[in-house]
Amino acid sequence: MLRPILRYGADALHAVAKPVDNFGTDLQTLIDDMIETMYAAPGVGLAAPQVGVALRVFVADPSSGQSTSELRVLVNPEIVQQEGAQREEEGCLSLPGFTARVARSTQLVLRGLDRDGTPVQLEAEGLQARVFQHEVDHLDGTIFVNRLQGIKRDLIVRRVRKLQRAGKW
Ligand code: NI
Repeated sequence: MLRPILRYGADALHAVAKPVDNFGTDLQTLIDDMIETMYAAPGVGLAAPQVGVALRVFVADPSSGQSTSELRVLVNPEIVQQEGAQREEEGCLSLPGFTARVARSTQLVLRGLDRDGTPVQLEAEGLQARVFQHEVDHLDGTIFVNRLQGIKRDLIVRRVRKLQRAGKW
């Protein structure tokens, strides 16, 4: 089932999510819904807080559904190693219409659990590494604009506030 995606400004997006400790039906349904919602958007990643669920889980597919083998589901993910630097254009389903270049690591190692609670370790680079960092940020209540500095961030926030005031957000 598709779930509505919350937009920048919604409380759930700006709070730290809780670790998952129950891998039952509710979590399985949440994950299925998140995958469906991400592909429908379409997007390359979606974190549970974006659909209003304060749990540490995200789904990601840098190919945006072109190659299903790139679909990853991570529960309680943790970046345990990162190196290199990249600055590429980034967007977010919770900030439709806005993009900015965000500083990220180029390579990382991520540890967490799969949807059944089995420990997994993933190595990622390039776009996938960027998506993982963006999604882990969501679990800590950080949106990509929070990583921008000065004028660029202010510009986006001001435009969003204007849209909010006009009832168009
Ligand atoms: Ni996002």
